Amino acid sequence: MPIVTSTELFKKAYAGGYAIGAFNINNMEIVQGITDAAAELKSPVILQASQGARKYANSVYLVKLVEAASELHPEVPMVLHLDHGADFDVCKDCVDNGFTSVMIDYSGHPFEENIAESKKVAEYAHEHGVVVEAELGTLAGVEDAVSVEADKAFYTDPDQVEEFVKRTGVDSLAIAIGTSHGAYKFKPGTKPQLRLDILAEVARRLPGFPIVLHGSSSVPQEYVKIINENGGKLVDAIGVPEDQLREAAKGAVCKINIDSDLRLGMTAGIRKHFVEHPEHFDPRQYLGDGRANVKAIVEHKIKDVLGSDNKI
Ligand code: G3H
Ligand code: 13P
Ligand code: ZN
Repeated sequence: MPIVTSTELFKKAYAGGYAIGAFNINNMEIVQGITDAAAELKSPVILQASQGARKYANSVYLVKLVEAASELHPEVPMVLHLDHGADFDVCKDCVDNGFTSVMIDYSGHPFEENIAESKKVAEYAHEHGVVVEAELGTLAGVEDAVSVEADKAFYTDPDQVEEFVKRTGVDSLAIAIGTSHGAYKFKPGTKPQLRLDILAEVARRLPGFPIVLHGSSSVPQEYVKIINENGGKLVDAIGVPEDQLREAAKGAVCKINIDSDLRLGMTAGIRKHFVEHPEHFDPRQYLGDGRANVKAIVEHKIKDVLGSDNKI
């Protein structure tokens, strides 16, 4: 199967009460870990590359790696997505060079500018058979919201979503409901709580429309522990509770973004390997352990969080 867009995948996910995992890719081992897990569990999957990843690996390598994974697992619908495209030019480059989906992230700009840039990307991408995700709201940890006024600034305003989607023509929308990027999402001692009420209101305003959650790593403590037991120092790393993500996936959320958890898995595998085998210096040995952790984490997400197993 060639690399596909997310259109049909999101339709099925919405109707079926599950979400598709969007996992960040930076190198071959990560692509392999993710796609081997998806193949074993018969799950569609989104492979997404950030601008940082494209710079690190060179975008051509990432496109070819995903093409290779697709050739090896032809039964698995795979989407190649640009994560957090900064402007039209970055999105255009991906549209022109093998990506089937792009994100234009103008969420840090004023509403009207966000509309204008997202619309421009959507028009160009659609002419080329590529789908577009945009973002409305500021992704920040709930610890940043200290008052009702601050709440308004950080979370997506449901009053804006219909106008935004209508005027831009985008295919999916990332919203801010309390998730945030990285491994330090909530203050220690506080109860991590997503604003599922905002999600429900957005879904009510946009019936059937696919919603995306960024910053959805759960920061599995077993991997944090392995890292810290093997020379690492990650203090108070806290993620999004998986049961809340599962709840979101049952509703309008069709795409859930996970990067940090894979980084933790990769790091845990490598750190442990080095401590246990100080005599090793073959990258295949320690990268192999990192890759095995990536695969195990993706399998867990597919089965226990996203619910996308056996959907091919
Ligand atoms: O949303 C951010 C992703 O985790 C990608 O991070 O820009 O460091 O590649 P990055
Ligand atoms: P995490 O840092 O929670 O994995 O979020 C990843 C993400 O949103 C990529 O766009
Ligand atoms: Zn993100």
